[in-house]
Amino acid sequence: MFKNLLSTSFGAVAILAVVAIPAVAQEIDAQMQVCSACHGQNGVTTGPTIPIIWGQQSSYLFKQLHDYRSGDRANPIMAAMVKGIKQEDLRKVSAFFAAKTWPAKAAGAAAAPAEPPTVAQCKPCHQPNFEGGPPAPRLAGLGYEYLVSAMKGFAEDERTNNLDMPGFMKALSAAERDAIARYLAAL
Ligand code: HEC
Ligand code: HEC
Repeated sequence: MFKNLLSTSFGAVAILAVVAIPAVAQEIDAQMQVCSACHGQNGVTTGPTIPIIWGQQSSYLFKQLHDYRSGDRANPIMAAMVKGIKQEDLRKVSAFFAAKTWPAKAAGAAAAPAEPPTVAQCKPCHQPNFEGGPPAPRLAGLGYEYLVSAMKGFAEDERTNNLDMPGFMKALSAAERDAIARYLAAL
């Protein structure tokens, strides 16, 4: 928003933006430094089973933070992390990360394999380019290991914070899910 305001106007709006918006962003920015230990200084995560949150869909991020807090999505690390965020700040935190740019693919990364036939059914929700749209998250470019573990979590009733995803994942074999993860990770 800050960038748009600046680029469209050098008048009063721009001055307002300079004064008001960064104050909120800076406050959240400082609070969110702790996240970069795992989710990365530049959006590239520090481990293969940690999801990219830079540029992820805002509504999805919000729901996950909410679900970690309530325990609907069980994860001890993230449950501890969200305890440090005030309930009223969850939307700001989600918007803050959603506004960042999804990290570019590493130079020399392998091209995506042919699209597995099983992914056509995912597009109505995750969108044809897999960049997501409310309420479905972006999947394109998430790490292979994270995708495998997220899909397995739904298939094995470990991740139960959505009604549809477990059914879709149970209908696929582990090998089919693996092929999907390879495809999506390379997009
Ligand atoms: C010690 C490492 C660590 C830190 C620090 C950390 N996270 Fe995470 N985060 C993870 C891991 C691991 C997962 C995946 C957990 C799972 O499978 O449910 C995750 C998942 C998430 C997700 C869900 C993303 C998705 O695609 O489903 C969000 C949102 C998130 N973290 C936000 C944050 C925020 C905001 C902070 C800072 C307040 C933070 N995390 C700090 C390790 C960390
Ligand atoms: C009816 C809509 C719908 C369809 C179809 C669908 N999904 Fe999803 N998917 C969602 C929603 C909504 C979420 C977020 C669930 C939550 O709240 O945690 C999700 C979450 C996911 C996640 C977790 C991402 C993360 O960051 O943790 C993966 C992986 C995923 N879907 C893969 C797939 C694949 C692969 C297919 C096709 C085989 C598929 N989905 C089909 C709606 C859908």
